[in-house]
Amino acid sequence: MVRSAATTNVILDDWFGRLRGKWHEIPGDVDGERLSSRQLATLTDDRLVACWESIRNAERSRWEMRGWYHTLYQPLLTSARVLDYGSGFGLDALSWAQAGASVTCADIVAENLRVLERLARALGLHHVCFLHIEDLSSLCALEDESFDVIWAQGSLHHAPFDFMKQEVACLVPKLRIGGRWIQLAYPRERWVRDGAVPFARWGVNTDGEGTPWAEWYDLPKVLSLLAPRRFDPVLAFNFHDDDFNWFDLLRRS
Ligand SMILES: C[S@@+](CC[C@H](N)C(=O)[O-])C[C@H]1O[C@@H](n2cnc3c(N)ncnc32)[C@H](O)[C@@H]1O
Repeated sequence: MVRSAATTNVILDDWFGRLRGKWHEIPGDVDGERLSSRQLATLTDDRLVACWESIRNAERSRWEMRGWYHTLYQPLLTSARVLDYGSGFGLDALSWAQAGASVTCADIVAENLRVLERLARALGLHHVCFLHIEDLSSLCALEDESFDVIWAQGSLHHAPFDFMKQEVACLVPKLRIGGRWIQLAYPRERWVRDGAVPFARWGVNTDGEGTPWAEWYDLPKVLSLLAPRRFDPVLAFNFHDDDFNWFDLLRRS
């Protein structure tokens, strides 16, 4: 089938809309309940900061989750220009900003970014920038090759590969040659363990009700997502009993 630009845009818009229905929910929970940026928006600044600090510190203290990579990457990112793509509650983004990185937080959910803007101000992080991804043209606001690191933790495997390929094609040029693409995804082994269900159903297993899609990635699939740009793997491995995988790739072209 030949798809016109208009048809493609309808498909893209539809996916962004479906994703927004879910992802005001932010990773990190209080008393077993997932947080929503809609609830967080009702907190005072002091309570918002206390909530962010307690979740960030709890997640960082779990070595097998965020602990290892905060220890590994924080010193490397201190003076880097970082685009956190799908920044959620900023558990990584604002930590890197506190460590001295120049951080841009991008997200498809405006409420998430509004919460982060308030948090950044309350934490005295006045150099953090914010970008709402309304559609792919929103990425035009970013200059090409203006980032040392594109950091995408859990944001690029919740829509079909063909959709992600179009989004990533707009995103990769923002990374300088020699810069690092750092992505957390879900491995094939987890999908097999969960019964190899269709991706349209797997999202509910991995991230709960309302998750429209979850798709596994391995290194060849991530490299094909990024193609025709070439990347060399610095690190690529599964962790946390194959629940997650990690791709740290260096941009070559
Ligand atoms: C699982 S959360 C991860 C949040 C954060 N990166 C973290 O590590 O806690 C996924 C985030 O990615 C955003 N997201 C989901 N799909 C996206 C897409 N196609 N493009 C950009 N952001 C997306 C969501 O709005 C949400 O903030």
